Amino acid sequence: KMDIFITDLMGRMTLEEKIGQLNLVTGGDATTGAVVSTDVEAKIKAGKIGGIFSMTTVPRIRAAQELAVNHSRLKIPIIFGMDVIHGYKTIFPIPLGLAASWDTTLIEETARIAAIEASADGLNWTFSPMVDISRDARWGRISEGSGEDTYLGSRIAEAMVHGYQGDDLSADNTLMACVKHFALYGAAEAGRDYNTTDMSLHRMYNEYLPPYKAAIDAGAGSVMTSFNDINGVPATANKWLMTDVLRHQWGFDGFVVTDYTAVNELIDHGLGNLQEVSARSLKAGVEMDMVGEGFLTTLKKSVEAGKVSEADIDRACRLVLEAKYKLGLFDDPFRYCDENRAAKAILNPTHLAKAREAAGKSFVLLKNDEQLLPLKKQGTMALIGPLANTGSNMPGTWSVSADLENTPSLLEGMREVLGDTMKIIYHPGSNLLADSSYQERATLFGRTIPRDDRPEAELIAEALEVARQADVVVAALGESSEMSGESSSRTDIGIPAVQQRLLAELLKTGKPVVLVLFTGRPLTLTWENEHVPAILNVWFGGTETGKAVADVLFGDVNPSGKLPATFPQHVGQLPLYYSHKNTGRPLGEGQWFQKFRSNYLDVSNDPLYPFGYGLSYTTFTYDEPVLSTDTLQRKGNLQVSVEVSNTGSYAGEEVVQLYIRDLVGSVTRPVKELKGFQKIQLAPGQSQRVVFDLTEEDLKFYNADLEYAAEAGEFIVFIGTNSRDVQEKHFFLID
Ligand code: IFM
Repeated sequence: KMDIFITDLMGRMTLEEKIGQLNLVTGGDATTGAVVSTDVEAKIKAGKIGGIFSMTTVPRIRAAQELAVNHSRLKIPIIFGMDVIHGYKTIFPIPLGLAASWDTTLIEETARIAAIEASADGLNWTFSPMVDISRDARWGRISEGSGEDTYLGSRIAEAMVHGYQGDDLSADNTLMACVKHFALYGAAEAGRDYNTTDMSLHRMYNEYLPPYKAAIDAGAGSVMTSFNDINGVPATANKWLMTDVLRHQWGFDGFVVTDYTAVNELIDHGLGNLQEVSARSLKAGVEMDMVGEGFLTTLKKSVEAGKVSEADIDRACRLVLEAKYKLGLFDDPFRYCDENRAAKAILNPTHLAKAREAAGKSFVLLKNDEQLLPLKKQGTMALIGPLANTGSNMPGTWSVSADLENTPSLLEGMREVLGDTMKIIYHPGSNLLADSSYQERATLFGRTIPRDDRPEAELIAEALEVARQADVVVAALGESSEMSGESSSRTDIGIPAVQQRLLAELLKTGKPVVLVLFTGRPLTLTWENEHVPAILNVWFGGTETGKAVADVLFGDVNPSGKLPATFPQHVGQLPLYYSHKNTGRPLGEGQWFQKFRSNYLDVSNDPLYPFGYGLSYTTFTYDEPVLSTDTLQRKGNLQVSVEVSNTGSYAGEEVVQLYIRDLVGSVTRPVKELKGFQKIQLAPGQSQRVVFDLTEEDLKFYNADLEYAAEAGEFIVFIGTNSRDVQEKHFFLID
């Protein structure tokens, strides 16, 4: 039915109208490039616009849709997109924080809520999930993805697609997902945003491409190209990537949109003039051009010059129209334009409760000496730090639709939860950054952190006065939300020095100090880990951050987050990730330096906190894992089980992690690879046997000929509470 409908429609379209469908313009609500779309109204009427993004609210979207369906010749509806990345108005933790929950059901629910709210405001397409693997914390956009791991990233990618799209894309409360950034954007050299990536096929297929494929297999309707060069051909012009891999190998049948002006940027990449790069991008497999209008202004000329065929344009136009058809827009272009829905759906109490739960589950307890946490709700707490009373900073990066003015700060959220059980006294203590121009660069999106340009010593002295009156000091320090995210790469990934100096002075008061750490990336916390008794990493927790921090600090919620990315000791170790190769000169077990082995003179190879790490207020013990057999047949299965017990005095959740190592292969294999995880909840004294099923499928990898197969031989299976602290068993895969 869809094919007949679209064939008929396309039979009536002029070449210009077909090209118009390939043009995506911005409504201007959130722009991340120098170019902003112009003459939108006239272009809609002329059939020169296929989609609009960053335009919100039903009245505005309805007005634009009315222009399309009442004033353009063929009345083709517009698709409306937006960066709904970790919530729409109810903002959930940044994606890296959500990943730290290791709770795919919860993550799917957050995406579902985001879809309900955004679709109630007129939208039907989201530029999410962002599934770029990143192992270099200098890259600011590590905050927007699920971290370093292929397996965890793939499971989260699927969950998000299901959450957005539900099982009916044409329902009025679902959004079409857009998997981004295709591909390898997270491997930007030196962690510098938009930089080149250069990667072997072996690494791509085994480590970086699977999350994109997982999202596509889950049914994602669209894909966004990445800005980066890949082995000499920028992704936006990369035919191998978008046609051979995406279409032919993976069978993707949705449409591909570029990133913001990415076609035009091919000129700076050095691929030719606008007409040449537009033709090349279309022929490589791009269907929609975001903002730059290279397609709109040059493709007709390229057809006339024989550089592009009408069939190329037809193919692209058909895919865009199919997406609109699947969204139900031809049935009812105003399907997503019900003025009454927004008031009920947006920021409703159920959504806010889920945001508070998700925030609590995203926090990672990095250190808790002598069980300083949880705190008692009594006496006086000094809340100190430049991030303690900055509500607009709580939602985190890429939360463009957040209601910043009404987001409670940490201070406000804590006050609401604690009521008069406890006195809270507050002082900012320092600036975010000593250097005001750095601070200005880091708050370009308008999430201003107030500055006080009095001498640093004066601010610290005042803060110490406040601290001395308290029973406990909570220091709210770290990054502002725009110190990570797009175009926010850093070379020094520590807590800014001015804040560290404040922290050192607070510690000297002798009061118990808890560091509540805001960050969008793994930070180097070597000094803090040595000196601060308790550290709770809260990322950027979204709308309900303040309340959720109170829930966790005071023990109403037991922290259960686990790091989805390794925290290094030193920035010079980057890229640092647990699933590295062994090399021909590995370091001896338990060593930190051996001459002529793979290591550094000045810092050991160890991370500060390993992938999968996170503490709880309770303690979990693991019995010895048991294998159902030590020989796995190709068509058989192997059960790995372990008894886990809560031996502490709080109820808590634990993420039981399973890793494997293939000891001998036709190509080198990582020293550990995550292949399963289960999040369990145990009451004090309770035990549970956790069972994982392993099959040949879990042992497969791409070999040197890019064949995906498991090789017979010996494997290790590791089970534990993080990627470092594991117990191991051996088994064989036999033919
Ligand atoms: O979706 C984003 C992308 O992640 C970065 N560039 C702009 C796009 C649209 O806002």
